[in-house]
Amino acid sequence: RAERNALTIAIALLLFFFVLIVYAAKGLKIDLPTCITDVQPFKEGRLIQHAPDRYELHVVARMWFFDFNQGQTEIELPVGSTVDFYLTSADVVHGMHVNGTTVNLMAIPGTVNYARYRFEKPGVYHVVCHEFCGVGHQAMQGKIVVK
Ligand code: CUA
Repeated sequence: RAERNALTIAIALLLFFFVLIVYAAKGLKIDLPTCITDVQPFKEGRLIQHAPDRYELHVVARMWFFDFNQGQTEIELPVGSTVDFYLTSADVVHGMHVNGTTVNLMAIPGTVNYARYRFEKPGVYHVVCHEFCGVGHQAMQGKIVVK
């Protein structure tokens, strides 16, 4: 009977943890970063417009700036734009956080990371590198202007 009790407790715990994971994902909106394997790492930043409010942004992080669009470190978007961020690195590991948003990704050479965000409010969104990447790390930043 002790074995059956142990088994019951183990199964109950498994179910409990499973419920916690589902709650974390749905209730708290904690999302695991997605690794996209069907997008090949790219060499140059590009801003692609698919519809008036839909954009695809290919960002290349490199020492020591973010290439958003053919070397530009600053881009402009209309309010209400939904942006699919694809991020890779041209040299070492960088991080990219778009201040005031949930976009927080690692830039890893040979890999593309993905996040989606809808810019509901106008303003200047500063983009910073949050992974130490050399002497220029502190100065590594970009800007997304939404208006
Ligand atoms: Cu790039 Cu720190």
